[in-house]
Amino acid sequence: MRSLVRETRLYPAQFVLPLFVCPGEGVRREIGAMPGNFQLSIDQLVLECAEVRSLGIGGVILFGLPESKDEMASGAYDDNGIVQRAIRAIRKEVHGLLIITDVCNCEYTSHGHCGYIKNGDVDNDTTLQWLARTSLSHARAGADIVAPSDMMDGRVWAIRKELDANGYEKVPILAYAAKFASVFYGPFREAAESAPQFGDRRSYQMDPANGREAMREIELDLQEGADMIMVKPAMPYLDLIREARDRFDVPIAAYQVSGEFSMIMAAARNGWIDQERAMIESLTSIVRAGAGIVLTYFAKPAAKFLG
Ligand code: PBG
Repeated sequence: MRSLVRETRLYPAQFVLPLFVCPGEGVRREIGAMPGNFQLSIDQLVLECAEVRSLGIGGVILFGLPESKDEMASGAYDDNGIVQRAIRAIRKEVHGLLIITDVCNCEYTSHGHCGYIKNGDVDNDTTLQWLARTSLSHARAGADIVAPSDMMDGRVWAIRKELDANGYEKVPILAYAAKFASVFYGPFREAAESAPQFGDRRSYQMDPANGREAMREIELDLQEGADMIMVKPAMPYLDLIREARDRFDVPIAAYQVSGEFSMIMAAARNGWIDQERAMIESLTSIVRAGAGIVLTYFAKPAAKFLG
């Protein structure tokens, strides 16, 4: 009877699994704070993607660890960059898997910031050109959706313009629209080797205290041409997922980020919490709040559980 009257249901097709692709061959390096998640070389990534596909998971979102980093983030928009090669390999080997790419510079800059540094600060407008070029090269390689996560102002418009001008008007943009300067990204920065070498990201990511500003950020991204929007992190911002759901009739994604995942895993490994129930309860709360798409490191175990 509980199942009959249950209001919120989870299903694998609403999950997106974040994956980290690194150089080399046969590399499957577990990420310390994120048990069950790995830095994968392209051959291993393809195997992982085949499993993701067979579990009925909605798609993957790719993050790249380039061979080398520089001031200009050149690895991000290189047509032969790590993510571009990964997309082509997945496309070739795994049919029907939805590929989203994270579009950002922090994994590719030597200083770890999300953009070009001018006079000690991130230069918004130069960064837009990198983001547009990166998005285009991802689309060329075969990405289904590009997802800018940098939080520069005007990037959705810059990306849309570049994609349209080059015949990729059908590639949608999933904008990380309300992305907060959050402590919960800690484990990800280890995974993606993208911790800023000086300062922090508060000049471009949002203050966790500001909910009204989050709605304004979402509105602007939609005006610039975003097709879907994201709230990130998820659990500390359920109120904003709900508010966005009530206000905007577009697909809404939420990102259960690395720290949210790691907290549950750490408590479970200590025997302090039941991992499976915490996983399902946390995902249910995010969907109940209004997210139709959930980016989560639990995608595989949750799909298996629901299977
Ligand atoms: C890149 C990016 C980050 C995350 C997704 N894209 C890190 C950051 O902004 O520092 C975080 C994801 C996670 O913690 O799981 N800008």
